[in-house]
Amino acid sequence: MKSIDLRSDTVTLPTSEMREAIYQAELGDDVFGEDPTINRFEKMAAERVGKEAALFVASGTMGNLVCSLTHCARGEEVILGDKSHMFLNEAGGMSTLGGIHPHIVANQPDGTIRLEDIEGAIRGSNVHYPRTRLICLENTHNSCNGAALPAVYIESVSALAKRHGLLLHLDGARIFNAAVALEVDVKELTRNVDSVSFCLSKGLSAPVGSVVCGSSEFIAEARRSRKVLGGGMRQAGIIAAAGIVAVERMVERLKEDHANVRRLAEGIDKIEGLSIDLAVVQTNIIYFELVSEKVDVQTFLTQLGEKGIKLLRLGGPRRFRVVTHYGIEAEDIEISLKAMREVLEES
Ligand SMILES: Cc1ncc(COP(=O)(O)O)c(C=O)c1O
Repeated sequence: MKSIDLRSDTVTLPTSEMREAIYQAELGDDVFGEDPTINRFEKMAAERVGKEAALFVASGTMGNLVCSLTHCARGEEVILGDKSHMFLNEAGGMSTLGGIHPHIVANQPDGTIRLEDIEGAIRGSNVHYPRTRLICLENTHNSCNGAALPAVYIESVSALAKRHGLLLHLDGARIFNAAVALEVDVKELTRNVDSVSFCLSKGLSAPVGSVVCGSSEFIAEARRSRKVLGGGMRQAGIIAAAGIVAVERMVERLKEDHANVRRLAEGIDKIEGLSIDLAVVQTNIIYFELVSEKVDVQTFLTQLGEKGIKLLRLGGPRRFRVVTHYGIEAEDIEISLKAMREVLEES
């Protein structure tokens, strides 16, 4: 029985082309700037998102943390969404390690933060207040149904940031999902931000790594922040080699994941006992509710598990997240829907 793991796109395994690239990778000491594969990867990553320079990091969490540590000094404040990954799921790194104060404002269901809410959160000049330094956005927005934030919205937040002398960071863990869903060049989504981090180890299927991009000056400082975190890796080209394949070969196919999630969402919508909002389906992440009282959450999960289907309960007591990715085929969607129908009918 094939395991159909819909918990996350982080479960993806490297392609055979990636394994071959890893095997063949030319290596050197990256802390000395001498790993040719890392140097090639960083150059191509920066070009891809339209920035001057890039820095390979171990994870998305490290990428976001390196950016907040580089942009902000101790006691400064970051405005970010209350449903953002940086606030909810990164172990409070910015305050734990950077003494940076998170200022939370509401994320709307489409992943945006209202401009007036951002503006209202900016501190005035008063000795009682921390100093606002940075605004963070997330695109696509994991907890907000994988919503893709359009370029025009990012541009308006950037204009607001500039008006107030603030910086803008984009957690673009899945920025290529956003670009593919919105049918724009990724540069449209990154043009107006001071820094962006994106992940290689999610929909792009590389085994490890993320990358931070920004101006040359910013990346030079970010390199120091990464070193502080113990993230200066030596022959790191061995993993960046897969990242090169990820960026070159795995972006276009993300639309298959989006089509599969839509197929799955439309199927879930037809199953009695499950509830989903089809209007919010945009990229490779959906959430749905178990509304049937006939089966409890744990039984639903266990019985699906016995049929080889893995889901994550997330975002509410009877709410599940489903993420499609490389390795999940159209026929797996049909198998998953059939399994859900059977579990509910047999309860
Ligand atoms: C939006 C977002 N940002 C950052 C991260 C962190 O990435 P990592 O798990 O590589 O630390 C994730 C992980 O799922 C994410 O969804």
